[in-house]
Amino acid sequence: KKVVLAYSGGLDTSVILKWLQDVYQCEIVTFTADIGQGEELEPAREKAKKFGVKEIYIDDLREEFVRDFVFPMFRANTIYEGEYLLGTSIARPLIAKRLIEIARDTKADAISHGATGKGNDQVRFELGAYALNPDIKVIAPWREWDLLSREKLLAYAEQHGIPVEMKHKAGGSPYSMDANLLHISYEGRHLEDPAAEPEDDMWRWTVSPEKAPDQAEYLDVEYKYGDPVALNGKQLSAADLLAELNRIGGKHGIGRLDLVENRYVGMKARGCYETPGGTIMLKAHRAIESITLDREVAHLKDELMPRYASLIYNGYWWSPEREMLQTMINHSQVNVNGWVRVKLYKGNVTVVGRDSKTNSLFDPGIATFEDDQGAYNQADAAGFIKLNALRLRIAAKFKNKAK
Ligand code: ARG
Ligand code: SIN
Repeated sequence: KKVVLAYSGGLDTSVILKWLQDVYQCEIVTFTADIGQGEELEPAREKAKKFGVKEIYIDDLREEFVRDFVFPMFRANTIYEGEYLLGTSIARPLIAKRLIEIARDTKADAISHGATGKGNDQVRFELGAYALNPDIKVIAPWREWDLLSREKLLAYAEQHGIPVEMKHKAGGSPYSMDANLLHISYEGRHLEDPAAEPEDDMWRWTVSPEKAPDQAEYLDVEYKYGDPVALNGKQLSAADLLAELNRIGGKHGIGRLDLVENRYVGMKARGCYETPGGTIMLKAHRAIESITLDREVAHLKDELMPRYASLIYNGYWWSPEREMLQTMINHSQVNVNGWVRVKLYKGNVTVVGRDSKTNSLFDPGIATFEDDQGAYNQADAAGFIKLNALRLRIAAKFKNKAK
């Protein structure tokens, strides 16, 4: 029996590692991914070695994460419940995929993760894993053990010689946090009272809008097939581009969110998020679509978007319905080429310009308030309105007769 564990090197997953060894008496393979959470990964290797782990995987997945998960999602302008940019949700399917690949390569028959039994993450990891390997076994220690409080977890750690220094891994932060190139999230502790404003020193990636520069900053984002490819004329890889957007957005206090959301398991939960780059991308992408997409295509995308967002939030990335929607969304993006200029100022992203040399459907000759030289016959509008009004007029006549 062999288990691949999604291992961060932190206290929780270190306790899980030890617990799996003790309770399941199995061989452990650890998997640690760099998805841009901004933490050193080598310490995870050292810690795994100390536990006697022989097969240690440490992967840099930053490019794959942004290119194959974040960007495809942003092509749909995806937001959950009107607000959440799905920063955690979109990383889970990639972790699930790597867990299954590593299980195959190491001939492991099970995977394990550190998500609790109360959240979305367990669902995302496991739906993904089963979709990619129907026979995989899953061990979710949080659903099995009795270490259900912080105190018990710490006691277990001390008892088993798991370095206490790990307690302070998150810089002593009292929050449950999750970070990657798209966002950083905070849940728990002070945030469990949805009426209470988060303390200002909780936020790590963004300055508060009050403290942001008094000078606005302009930024040009270039799009190709619906994905951003360059900033201010400089071509960047997917991961580098998002990292740069995070840096600039963070400086201007962009992308803070304080939200009570509906978890898939049924409860409401309060979370805070910083998504500076994603917030810029959403605005800029809608702007480039505004000149390159046909109206009905754009509206149909908008109607389907909430479904697509729920699929991702609920963990169905590796599902046939997500693939179907993705095919449609990707097809809609072939004409989404051009550039957008945004202005960043004290927490705001404002679109101030957009153009597409190759694909703009904006026709100034038709839209103008000046003489359009016969490009548009205003007399046609009378018939257009008359026929659209026909059923309204019939209904009005009927109503008047009844009176
Ligand atoms: N509530 C968010 C979501 O469901 C964030 C979850 C954060 N996960 C974590 N392990 N801290 O996507
Ligand atoms: C967890 O419960 O592990 C984190 C929160 C979530 O998954 O929604």
